[in-house]
Amino acid sequence: MTTDGPRGNVAVVGTGAMGAGIAQVAAMAGHQVYLQDAGADRAAAAVEGLGQRLADLAAKSRMTREEARAAADRLQVVADLADLPECELVIEAAAEDLEVKQSVFAELGRTQPPTTLLATNTSSLDIDAIAESVHDPERVIGLHFFNPAPVMRLVEVVHGQSSAQTYVDFAADLVASWGKTPVHCASTPGFIVNRVARPFYGEGQRMLDEGLADAATIDACLRSAGFRMGPLELTDLIGQDVNLAVGTSVWERTGQDPRYAPVQLQRDLVAQGRLGRKTGRGVYRYAADGRPTDADPDERRVDELVGGPARTDPVARTVAMLVNEAVDLVHRGEASPEDVDTAMVLGTSYPKGPVAWGRELGYDYVRTVLAELDDAYPGGRYRPSPALDGDR
Ligand SMILES: NC(=O)c1ccc[n+]([C@@H]2O[C@H](COP(=O)([O-])OP(=O)(O)OC[C@H]3O[C@@H](n4cnc5c(N)ncnc54)[C@H](O)[C@@H]3O)[C@@H](O)[C@H]2O)c1
Repeated sequence: MTTDGPRGNVAVVGTGAMGAGIAQVAAMAGHQVYLQDAGADRAAAAVEGLGQRLADLAAKSRMTREEARAAADRLQVVADLADLPECELVIEAAAEDLEVKQSVFAELGRTQPPTTLLATNTSSLDIDAIAESVHDPERVIGLHFFNPAPVMRLVEVVHGQSSAQTYVDFAADLVASWGKTPVHCASTPGFIVNRVARPFYGEGQRMLDEGLADAATIDACLRSAGFRMGPLELTDLIGQDVNLAVGTSVWERTGQDPRYAPVQLQRDLVAQGRLGRKTGRGVYRYAADGRPTDADPDERRVDELVGGPARTDPVARTVAMLVNEAVDLVHRGEASPEDVDTAMVLGTSYPKGPVAWGRELGYDYVRTVLAELDDAYPGGRYRPSPALDGDR
């Protein structure tokens, strides 16, 4: 397999938010793209929406009209999986449900030639559990795009236990030829981004719960360190329910590791329907125009907290936890330090990659912050990674 030469056929199964975005990327890269969805008229609606989106890009001079028309002409609806022509790559972006994905892959395994790469865009399921449904699981991998797929450069290329290196390499080269930045990781809960980012949210919620400061002040502390958004405003934007579901999935899949235990404060928000911007209330209250009405930080308190004792410095605690999580992933051999840093900078816009940040701060410092926190809040949440012993 090679990514040189004419573009092969690509199919996208499940044409919701992610599938449609991925189809756009592949069509813009010159592939003939087949779209299939179980929902009546869903694929046709996606093709229509994409035609409009491509025309809008041409109107903004991001591409010529001819290019937009040619890309739109490369999109084709297919009613049933069995009707798909032979493809080089099929990307499944259907519902996040193991049984749904297994039945899609079982059918693709039967109907696509043995050389077709079968990829899933799952955010949280184990690649090996999906690959089980195919008799030749070496051709099954994860290709985890971020939302919106045409804009976000990062793609996590997820290796199952049985994924063959040739398919993995081909997939990474292919998405790179689409202008994406691939990073490699094992099929570990949350992959890179959704795993390493957990403490960013968790620490914010903990600090609010502890009464360290009000939400706006905690968020302002993190922004002062270069994070584009604080953890509380960010979870309101993502949706407290969506963020809790991802966190709970990582917690369950790690055997309920206390490091990822959902914070009661977030569970309460979800139980009360305070899901964030989309419901008008989450951690903050929102006006009709989507702006928060109670997000003024106490600037004096920000100055007091940042640079103060580690246990009460929102930046020190959050960064120490991010470093701990990142070096732990590398220590387990699930991703390289370079890929972890690339993934976090591109996937979450952190100001620095957490592995490099850890080296800059020094592992001794990170260990000291974690030890202080562990003294104050024992129970395993602040357990240091064995990787932090590395420079002793
Ligand atoms: N939304 C995100 O931010 C995001 C980011 C990365 C990955 N993902 C993953 O991508 C996948 C799709 O997410 P989404 O947000 O696009 O969901 P979505 O609900 O917008 O779209 C899912 C589509 O799949 C279709 N579908 C369901 N069962 C199907 C089947 N058996 N065969 C064919 N089509 C089927 C649905 O009709 C729907 O159109 C999920 O696995 C999700 O975890 C989502």
